[in-house]
Amino acid sequence: MTRPTVVTTIAELRAGLAARAAGRGSGSTPGSVALVPTMGALHDGHLALVERAAELADTVVVSIFVNPLQFGPEEDLDKYPRDLEADLEALDPFDVAFVFAPTASEMYPKGAAQVHVIGGPVAELFEGRARPGHFDGVLTVVSKLLNIAQPDVVLFGQKDAQQVFLVRQLVDDLNFPTKVEIVETVRADDGLALSSRNRYLNGDERRAAVAISRALEAASSGADRGIDAVLAAAQSVFMDERLVRLEYLKVVNPKTFLPVDDGYRGPVRVLIAARVGSARLIDNDAIYLN
Ligand code: PAF
Repeated sequence: MTRPTVVTTIAELRAGLAARAAGRGSGSTPGSVALVPTMGALHDGHLALVERAAELADTVVVSIFVNPLQFGPEEDLDKYPRDLEADLEALDPFDVAFVFAPTASEMYPKGAAQVHVIGGPVAELFEGRARPGHFDGVLTVVSKLLNIAQPDVVLFGQKDAQQVFLVRQLVDDLNFPTKVEIVETVRADDGLALSSRNRYLNGDERRAAVAISRALEAASSGADRGIDAVLAAAQSVFMDERLVRLEYLKVVNPKTFLPVDDGYRGPVRVLIAARVGSARLIDNDAIYLN
């Protein structure tokens, strides 16, 4: 595949997309546009999004931007892995027209967006409680990216279940004319969900981290016996794993993303966040409570 055109300014991306839409420029394929928003440090989970994007649209744009607005003051903004050359190499086998890799000052010329998108009550729960302001930062940058690239479809990974819920709500509530496509979580052979933050794990921590996906499997095995059995089965996996500190284990209604009551029957999503060494990892799974 030909390497994507790397653009760093909003004007360049818009001009490149307009040229393609008009049948000019490299590749000159007019038609639909898919956007894959990322923060770089690309792994097979991101590449599954890119592969799906290429199936859905004629022009694929991958954005690579470590968005400062979604990191808290004590979080890993400075150490978040950044390697554009490695990311471009990872994208080599795919048909990507543009990589949009802006600087923070290109995205936030005034230092920070003065107008923010507020995610509402669900953005305050779970990840939002652990990371105050995180989802407002995500939704603000996603809104900007949607306005900049004006894609027909935007793709996200199911691993970030709360982000998926809130992006769907953003697109519905603010009437973005963009379809949201979700791609299943990609896992390592032992079940650990792929994440850029897995790079922070040492060997022992990496082995221990698999407890998170094992807990989700255990949760699913308790589904026939109700919510208490689901929670107990998942929690028991962490008892023997001293390197993994469970932060939360929640069972939510996928329609509202609110915790379900005792006695609820139907589809749910089990959410887990845990700290392993310096990494904070999240994962989730859909199960059916009988
Ligand atoms: O999921 C991510 O990597 C980020 O939250 C996103 C959607 C690229 C926004 O910065």
